[in-house]
Amino acid sequence: MKKIIVTGGCGYIGSHTAIELIENDFEVVIFDDLSNSSEKTLERIEKITGVRPIFEKIDLKDERATEFAFDRYKDAFAVIHFAALKAVGDSIEKPLEYYQNNLYSFLNTLMCQHKLGIHKFIFSSSATVYGNPDVLPITEENKTQRPFSPYGNTKKIAEEILDDFTKSNPNFAAISLRYFNPIGAHESGNIGELPNGTPNNLMPYITQTAAGVRKKLMVFGNDYPTKDGTPIRDYIHVVDLAKAHVKALERLLNQDQEQPLEIYNLGTGNGFSVLDVIQSFDRVSNTKLNYEITGRRDGDVPKLYAATNLALEKLGWKAEKGLDEMIDSSWRWEQKYRNNKNDI
Ligand code: UD1
Repeated sequence: MKKIIVTGGCGYIGSHTAIELIENDFEVVIFDDLSNSSEKTLERIEKITGVRPIFEKIDLKDERATEFAFDRYKDAFAVIHFAALKAVGDSIEKPLEYYQNNLYSFLNTLMCQHKLGIHKFIFSSSATVYGNPDVLPITEENKTQRPFSPYGNTKKIAEEILDDFTKSNPNFAAISLRYFNPIGAHESGNIGELPNGTPNNLMPYITQTAAGVRKKLMVFGNDYPTKDGTPIRDYIHVVDLAKAHVKALERLLNQDQEQPLEIYNLGTGNGFSVLDVIQSFDRVSNTKLNYEITGRRDGDVPKLYAATNLALEKLGWKAEKGLDEMIDSSWRWEQKYRNNKNDI
């Protein structure tokens, strides 16, 4: 069985990816400091797959601790690096904390695996590196722009570091996956997004509002140049996203990559407005979401959706789930979690 280290594997995207990896017969070792996740995730993964991943509680900012941890798994063949702080607003308030956390852990991970000869790496990047593009759908060839937030900038900087590093070490193979807007939850309803505190992102805010945890959703602006004035995004089901990681890993494993660093968009190619999402939510939940239009949020771009051909051509991957299915799974997860906190 191929052993794979998944940093941040207890988090939202990491845990869904761990499930897909286990279901594809990889042996998963999770490194996570649990700063924004729970060890209970391991039980949830086990409940779904029948396998409990190996787990190391480790702070990847700590170089020595990271070295020790890697040393125990030097037979791993690749690393998927999810571990990072991700709250956009928080990163604007605490930029140094974000740069320190996201970049130290990224560098320590790369250095430790490189030292041990683990030469394959998948990076969890974001469509935020495109900034506010002129041409849509956005292809991977488009120039990146400095992201609005320090969080986003850590993704851009990490990609640049990877570019330099793979150029000087051509036997090191890396794939950077640029996520558009991941939402949804595993179909079992046993695992999903669990933000700490007030959610920043649209979907958990909607489901928490409907569950009565928040009073109402504030829709940030309806004066954008879009069909209904609200921003357009490319929402993608987290399980589709997780499957793309398995495809990327297989590409690395089969040594199919054509460049030492390859970059892929992970989106559906379809754009939906905030009001589309609310309408879909009302439809699938059979409720009426309480929302109010307010002013724009700093840093939001009017429209962003992916060109998806490259991932299809090179990874053989394409998102399969539609918006209603994504939203239905988010809502089922939220309800199950609220009704049954201790048992899932
Ligand atoms: C944001 C980040 C992106 C990050 C992603 C992680 C930016 C510009 N974007 O994407 O880097 O990878 O989260 O999931 O830094 N909205 C509301 N009310 C809310 C919350 C959101 O109206 O309470 C709207 C937003 O204005 C936006 C849409 O919903 O139009 C989606 O917002 P969100 O889920 O936060 O994602 P992004 O901002 O696209």
